[in-house]
Amino acid sequence: MCGISAIAGHKPVAKLLLKSLQNLEYRGYDSCGMALFDDEEIKLRKNIGNVNEVNAIEHFEEMKGHLGIAHTRWATHGGVTPENSHPHFSSDNNFVIVHNGIFSNFQSIKTDLEAKGYRFRSQTDTEVFANLVQDEYKAEADVETAFCNALNKLEGSYAIAMICVYQPDTVFAVKKDSPLVLGINDGVNFVSSDMNAFISETRDTVLINDYEYVMMTNDSFQVKRLSDRQIQTKQIIHVQWDRETAQKGGFSHYMLKEIFDQPQTARQALHIPSQEIEVIARKFIEKKQSFCVGVGTTYYVAMIGTYLFSKYADLYVPSISADEFPTLIPVNADQHVLFFSQSGETYDTRMAIRAATQAGAATSAVVNVVGSSISQEVDDCIFQGSGPEICVVSTKAALSQIMILWLIALRVGVLRNRLSEAEAEAQRKKLFDFSRLIEKVINEESGFIRDLAKKTSHVRNWLFMGRGIYYPVALESALKMKEVTYLHAEGLPAGFLKHGTLAMVDENMYSLFFLPNRKDVELYHATQMAIQEVKARQGKVIAFCTQDDKEVQQVLDHYFVIPETDPEVTPLVEMVMAQLFSYYSALNLGLNIDKPRNLAKSVTVG
Ligand code: AGP
Ligand code: GLU
Repeated sequence: MCGISAIAGHKPVAKLLLKSLQNLEYRGYDSCGMALFDDEEIKLRKNIGNVNEVNAIEHFEEMKGHLGIAHTRWATHGGVTPENSHPHFSSDNNFVIVHNGIFSNFQSIKTDLEAKGYRFRSQTDTEVFANLVQDEYKAEADVETAFCNALNKLEGSYAIAMICVYQPDTVFAVKKDSPLVLGINDGVNFVSSDMNAFISETRDTVLINDYEYVMMTNDSFQVKRLSDRQIQTKQIIHVQWDRETAQKGGFSHYMLKEIFDQPQTARQALHIPSQEIEVIARKFIEKKQSFCVGVGTTYYVAMIGTYLFSKYADLYVPSISADEFPTLIPVNADQHVLFFSQSGETYDTRMAIRAATQAGAATSAVVNVVGSSISQEVDDCIFQGSGPEICVVSTKAALSQIMILWLIALRVGVLRNRLSEAEAEAQRKKLFDFSRLIEKVINEESGFIRDLAKKTSHVRNWLFMGRGIYYPVALESALKMKEVTYLHAEGLPAGFLKHGTLAMVDENMYSLFFLPNRKDVELYHATQMAIQEVKARQGKVIAFCTQDDKEVQQVLDHYFVIPETDPEVTPLVEMVMAQLFSYYSALNLGLNIDKPRNLAKSVTVG
């Protein structure tokens, strides 16, 4: 989740560009760079480090020119090196681009371009776009046409800004599944990942939709639709946010912002190139036994994996909490361990990796932070590209890991002949539909969830229950609740209740049931039995159910309405709604949501 910025001005823009980079730095900070059109050619400076460190070396403010682009990076493809930093030139240096997102089909395009003689200077997915535009421009010498033609060949997620020598007064920008906004001012216009880039200059902004592109000069802008190049009418919106609110995207806390980021970050994860999924999926085939390992939230991600491998690949992949792994598992060279970590620095997970590596087992990981220790300690690593997760409690990073895990499980299913390619593709489509659906759910249901959190703000003890895949979802949701509210919230399998915990149930005990989709008939009825067990002891019950499920609603004290959706993604819909419930519950208690007491974002001690 990098920060991109472009400015077209009537006077030199280097200082403004530098300021925009500083303001966008929270989106990524492993390296940065700027490119400006100066005296008939494009000049570029970039390096690794945060904005101030790089500026101390590169002196961005000395750069000349009225038109420029800038980038602060959160690497997804290619290590943190000066060459991989953005902006990226085309081979002939006539086009230069910055990109936020992942081009999922970059490898095949790169191979084609290399065969045509294009040379690449970086390992990024991004650079292919610069060379693709150069190639298209060769075919038809019109920048707008070349830009659109190149875009039509690319798949994945992107926000891009581009300048070129052939139209030296214009910034070209486009968006699909990554954010992009315009800032409009007198004689200086901006395009960037978010309005932090320009909020100290202007609060007049124009929102860009997916598959729309922008052509912007210092005194004009045009937004067009990519499919037919038709001009789109846009309204200028005046925002009143202060700097801090803007950094949180207008949300009161990073936790809420990151929950709302999820439709985009989930899609980003679904765009991880299939070759990367393949490398890890093959290990599940090649090795006799595989495990999924994480700790805290990532352990619950791993547990969800156990259910997915069982369902799609007919394979039992035990999940183990990283802190227990070294003492519990007699690892050997016939095994493979897949690790999950947002930070890539968690001590317990690193110790588990060490144990696996020493035993000669194959290791792989899904990690958010590029260059982190875990990413370097495993044999193969997928970077999930969710961008910095600032709130201590994990939301968007976990959901993205689940998306990637899902893709791996589907692929293993195909490799084991338990799924056809077509069936796996149909499942992938469901995940894309899910990423669109949660956008709607988050927007439409959060008011209701907030009200329910208010109604239950007196509750001090919670049981969170589910069966099947809803069980790890209940565990993860209970952990979220504990972390941000400091309340007692115990996650357990709904079938386990009657074997002991039921003794705690009375009229003061609240139970939250992750009731499955009704189309999951058996699981649904089994979970309903546990609801009845609680109700029979005067316990209070809240559950997730569809609007028309009147039968269960009659029994419940309160309920969350879930949309009619595919049963396979329903657990994830409930997980996201439960994140909001924890958030609003903590809000009522007036707690320090983004930095809960006693916790740290990266737990590097044992
Ligand atoms: C999540 O909300 C927690 N703060 C915590 O359990 C976290 O998931 C765990 O410490 C693992 O961290 P990692 O993903 O950075 O390895
Ligand atoms: N894929 C690009 C890179 O690694 C952009 C990263 C991003 O936007 O997160 O450089």
